Amino acid sequence: MTTDSRSRFTLIDILRVLGGVLLLNAFFSWWFTSTPTWGYRGKWMDTNYLKYRALGNDVNMTLSELSQYDGTDKKLPIYLAIDGEVFDVSASANIYGPGGAYHDLSGKDASRVFVTGCFRKKDEYTYDMRGLDEKEVNEDITSWKEFFHNHKKYWHVGVVQHEPITGDPPEPCEHIKFPGMHH
Ligand code: HEM
Ligand SMILES: *[C@@H]1O[C@H](CO)[C@@H](O)[C@H](O)[C@H]1NC(C)=O
Repeated sequence: MTTDSRSRFTLIDILRVLGGVLLLNAFFSWWFTSTPTWGYRGKWMDTNYLKYRALGNDVNMTLSELSQYDGTDKKLPIYLAIDGEVFDVSASANIYGPGGAYHDLSGKDASRVFVTGCFRKKDEYTYDMRGLDEKEVNEDITSWKEFFHNHKKYWHVGVVQHEPITGDPPEPCEHIKFPGMHH
């Protein structure tokens, strides 16, 4: 060894140290939180989200295309739409997939029921907002869209094209409100 090379770090050395630090970090994270990421389990750990971020190609679906994404087909992600905006909610298959408490919200744009909460009434699962109070609609829809936008495991994937509304609007029903969600 010559004195020259004494203080030279090669790229390999730097990678070795970096690798060691990362490994140690993962080890301690596993030790304390049983995950290699200090307990983080959000969408940045989800390969589907990373793929979406990398490719950036948003969907622009028809309602009939959207209906395939209700969790029935395990090979497809689970989508729901609100006010024409489509979100990936696959991370909560237990809630939105078959048998889940809110399965009826997936694969469609059921904006109306997000406002009325009349979950038992079949014709509420629509984006037909006729007959509802405009201020109530704006507040509720805005807050639910924010909920899905900001959720740590869900993400916005694109839009669904609404078809023209025909026929009569749904009959009025007694609204229920989700405690905590609305001001
Ligand atoms: C307009 C009325 C309502 C709407 C639109 C609504 C909608 C929702 C949605 C979308 C979720 C899933 C959130 C997520 O992705 O994590 C949820 C969860 C939940 N909701 Fe409702 N909800 C309403 C009213 C209520 C009411 C009145 C109750 C109380 C009886 C309730 C009880 C729950 C519970 C316990 C959960 C958690 C489910 C879980 O994490 O497994 N909801 N609600
Ligand atoms: C989606 O496609 C429809 C029909 O092709 C088009 O009119 C609309 O502008 C598109 N929307 C977006 C956000 O790309």
